[in-house]
Amino acid sequence: MDLEYFKQWVYKEFRINLSAYKETQLHRRLLSLMSRVGVNSVEEYIDILKKDADQRQKFLDFITINVSEFFRNPEIFYDLKNKIGTELLPNNKNLKIWSAACSVGAEPYSIAMILDEVAPNGNHSILATDIDSTILQRAQKGEYVESEIKNVSKNDIKKYFTQIGDKYVVNNKIKSMVKFKKHDLILDNYESNFDLIVCRNVVIYFNSDIKDEIYKKFHASLKKGGLLFVGATESIYNYKEFGFEKTSTFIYRKV
Ligand SMILES: C[S@@+](CC[C@H](N)C(=O)[O-])C[C@H]1O[C@@H](n2cnc3c(N)ncnc32)[C@H](O)[C@@H]1O
Repeated sequence: MDLEYFKQWVYKEFRINLSAYKETQLHRRLLSLMSRVGVNSVEEYIDILKKDADQRQKFLDFITINVSEFFRNPEIFYDLKNKIGTELLPNNKNLKIWSAACSVGAEPYSIAMILDEVAPNGNHSILATDIDSTILQRAQKGEYVESEIKNVSKNDIKKYFTQIGDKYVVNNKIKSMVKFKKHDLILDNYESNFDLIVCRNVVIYFNSDIKDEIYKKFHASLKKGGLLFVGATESIYNYKEFGFEKTSTFIYRKV
């Protein structure tokens, strides 16, 4: 397969840098996508993507893998809640938070619920970004199915959601705490002055050079003492190199 040719075409067409993604995984995923539409070469696949809007969307969905849920790995979120209370709020009543690669919005809304509980009077801002504009539209609507809210307690479902048929819609108070914006972690500039950056279950798809670049930029984007919260399979082994110290298994503090 002429992967290089395909990467160049994808970059020109979608401004997505596939070279940042782990090559074997990408290759495997692409082969599976191509076999689903019954083609054997990237040239044929590109022809389909040029003509068929549905297939373009399928390709983007497949590449961006946007599975998510509220309080993903609940015990780790509990730890985060604790750290927000003990490390961030004592220094600052109004927190600036970034949920990077937020997918359907379950992650930034989970954080909004935590803030509503631990610091309801603060003037917090939560920026939620993703490369995929279709998923951001869904995130803005704030509609979820039962499996996506399985880690939310019965009380909090009552407090923060309205059930409409088989959908659960996040209430306006929580929605108003989150601002969604399209952002590519590889190609776009990063805002600064964050108290907390949450970036989970996306860097696993990137090669190690790109991953290191992203950690350096997160470090620059955080305030001193700010926290970086990563996914449950994404421990940063060389965190000291980037200027972090470990505050718990999946939370790092900017020194
Ligand atoms: C598996 S989801 C993670 C969602 C959420 N953070 C969580 O842990 O539940 C990965 C998300 O990363 C996004 N993504 C992939 N490449 C990206 C990039 N280069 N920049 C920003 N987001 C990206 C995808 O669109 C997808 O929504």
